[in-house]
Amino acid sequence: MLDLILKNGTVVTLSEQFAADVGVADGKIALVGRLGDVPAREEMDVSGCFVMPGGLDVHTHMQLPFCGTVSADDFVTGTRAAACGGVTTLIDFAIPGAGVTPMEAVVRRREEADPKVCIDYGLHAAFTKWTDESPDQMRELVEYGIPTFKLFMVYRNEGWMADDFVLYDALRVAAERGGMVGVHAENVFLQEALTERLLKEGKIGCEYFPGSRPDFVEAEAIARAIRWAEASGGTLYIFHMSSGMGTDAVADGKRRGVHVYAETAMTYLQLNDELFKTPDGPLYATCPPIRRPVDNVRLWQGIADGDVQVIATDHCAFNREQKAMWEGNFSKIPFGMPGIETSLPVLFSEGVSTGRIDLPTFVKLTSANPARLFGLYPEKGSLQTGTDADIVVFDPEKVVTLTYENLHMNVDYCPFEGLAVRGYPIKTLLRGKVIYNGTDFVGQPGDGRFLKRGPVQPL
Ligand code: URP
Ligand code: ZN
Repeated sequence: MLDLILKNGTVVTLSEQFAADVGVADGKIALVGRLGDVPAREEMDVSGCFVMPGGLDVHTHMQLPFCGTVSADDFVTGTRAAACGGVTTLIDFAIPGAGVTPMEAVVRRREEADPKVCIDYGLHAAFTKWTDESPDQMRELVEYGIPTFKLFMVYRNEGWMADDFVLYDALRVAAERGGMVGVHAENVFLQEALTERLLKEGKIGCEYFPGSRPDFVEAEAIARAIRWAEASGGTLYIFHMSSGMGTDAVADGKRRGVHVYAETAMTYLQLNDELFKTPDGPLYATCPPIRRPVDNVRLWQGIADGDVQVIATDHCAFNREQKAMWEGNFSKIPFGMPGIETSLPVLFSEGVSTGRIDLPTFVKLTSANPARLFGLYPEKGSLQTGTDADIVVFDPEKVVTLTYENLHMNVDYCPFEGLAVRGYPIKTLLRGKVIYNGTDFVGQPGDGRFLKRGPVQPL
């Protein structure tokens, strides 16, 4: 006896789509096919809908102390919103402060997250300093189930910045352990000096923000990180890639055979820097910045060419009151944007519904590729029998006009406010349990589990 059958849908995997029912038992995918009279406690008719593996958002910052405040979504509100947007797994960060080891930061972050999470989650371990002990710390983290590490090439003032040697050596050590290093790639010297000069010249308005960290600031750092991956034999992941020039650098690295992967976000694909000239400009300020329409086009091309493999969000939400801390000076903006709930719908609408990408590519970008790269496949990111029944059911004809008022993120604006998206999740299942019913979140804080992850699986 199955617990649930999703009947008459179209199943989508990373390589194909086909008409099938999906049977769930004990939180796992039990059967995929025409299930006819197979008995089940519950049946849901999902005709006309796509049944896909739940989304993975591998770049979030819940309740992050940052820019003099704390990001507005905590592990309850952020994971609840994730579920309402079809996301069933996220990976957040443990960032050690002064005098704290990466493992201690992981333990503290788990204390914050474990009782609260409504979906499954993992952690990347950030290294904010690199000592003789760091290689052993990395080994310990891999054994614990954390094979991915974050290095910030900027944020010197926060005490987070990694220099070139750290980057090279961390890539080398991570590779020996089956791990991967992800970077926030911006050239700190240019970013700091350009910011200082603009401020000195009195160019402090939000319209000057993109000029404080232009595309070449990102592209140079990406190219340099790729060089260190090449030299060390390491595997490199570019978090939140924003620019066409950065995409060119990744394409070049891949041509040279470097193990480099890149993530972008719907904000970088769909929004542009004209927004910084509007009164709401600070709401759109994140690092690296959203850029020009030509960058949107190049990033979509990067997806088509396979140079961009993952869509994530860098979800780091600040509400209007927090954003108001900028007081007219772009360098004081709390940097970050919300996105975890809107990412899949906007990609579906702007990607699948417009014909830019096909359904298997949607599954690869949002689910299968991040699951493979971050050591969770096939348990996550697939609908293979015996794996976790993390499922999103998308109705391709459902039209929703996005507005923060109807979304579940703990923030009083939406970067895509007013956008009518075609295609929307109508059910989200976490390990077989419905946690989003098409209108409301119906799960519980604590439904989620911490995921111990395995080695990186190259794409
Ligand atoms: O501006 C951003 N992206 N804030 C979050 C921290 C980071 O850089 O990922
Ligand atoms: Zn970042």
